[in-house]
Amino acid sequence: MLEKINTLVKNVEEFSISNLVELENFRIHFLSKKGIITQLFDDFKTLSADQKKTIGQSLNKLKTQAEEKFKSTQLILEQSSNSSADYTIDLHLPTTPYQVGSIHPLTSVQQRIVQIFERIGFNLSEGPEIEDDWHNFSALNFPTNHPARDMQDTFFIQKNPDILLRTHTSSVQVQILEKQKPPLRTLAMGRVYRNETISARSNCFFHQIEGFYIDKKVSFADLKQTLYHFAKELLGKETKIRVRPSYFPFTEPSAEIDVSCNLCKGKGCNVCKYTGWLEIAGSGMIHPMVLKNSNVDPTEFSGFAFGVGIERITMMLYQIHDLRILIENDIRFLRQFTSL
Ligand code: DAH
Repeated sequence: MLEKINTLVKNVEEFSISNLVELENFRIHFLSKKGIITQLFDDFKTLSADQKKTIGQSLNKLKTQAEEKFKSTQLILEQSSNSSADYTIDLHLPTTPYQVGSIHPLTSVQQRIVQIFERIGFNLSEGPEIEDDWHNFSALNFPTNHPARDMQDTFFIQKNPDILLRTHTSSVQVQILEKQKPPLRTLAMGRVYRNETISARSNCFFHQIEGFYIDKKVSFADLKQTLYHFAKELLGKETKIRVRPSYFPFTEPSAEIDVSCNLCKGKGCNVCKYTGWLEIAGSGMIHPMVLKNSNVDPTEFSGFAFGVGIERITMMLYQIHDLRILIENDIRFLRQFTSL
């Protein structure tokens, strides 16, 4: 038996293993349940006590030798199979370009407008997009069933005529007056919703910035000067403004504000539809009824308000002819604004 063991020691030593299949053959041949070494241990049991003493040690050595060879070779093969996987990475391949985001043109224009007004003392306020009739219409002097309500086709929520998606940011005037007392000089911006047919010039939702200033002795001259300053800051020093009489239930007098078209310098082009002027805001002196509805005494305080459509100004600044493209998330369009 000792001879057999010595031959096996040599066999184990010389067994060449260069891959995982050969390693498995080695294990089956020597170490598995039916392998040679296991069989020797079975034979070992039949030996006399004396024989066991001399042979036992050699047999154990053989087993340890085989097990160690198996483990160390396994380690080497596994490491080399991992490192050969590394070489399958082609370092010459171009990398996937990292997509850099950009500020959306509507956000950028909003930020520019807010900054202009912040520099002359306006702060920022907020109001909800889901409103009730009072804040969106009644408190703003739109009587029930008054045709002025048709100016803003409304989305009602769950057929409840009292709850609706705000049709303009003017509703924030009422929200703020309920919580704060004049003097007030604030801006509110955000989404507004109207049930309009979607086309290149109108959508069922868009963005507005509302501004209002309430204090003692605020006059129409203050309104004009504020919007004149705004137009020049936004569009350039040479910009002129034109004030056209208009009608809004919540202002008296009411006016629409046009700015001179800077693209054609007032000569007329397709952006200003050959008029030389572009409309940028609705405005007016806050109606005494609106102040009264919010418990502000109109004999003590007066104020002006204005509403600016962000899409309209963005289209004008970047010469965009279809406003739908602003909300389509088309990456080719948005990429043009990466420097904003
Ligand atoms: N809320 C009006 C609209 O959406 C715009 C507007 C007009 C706002 C006159 C005002 C204003 O504050 O004074 O059509």
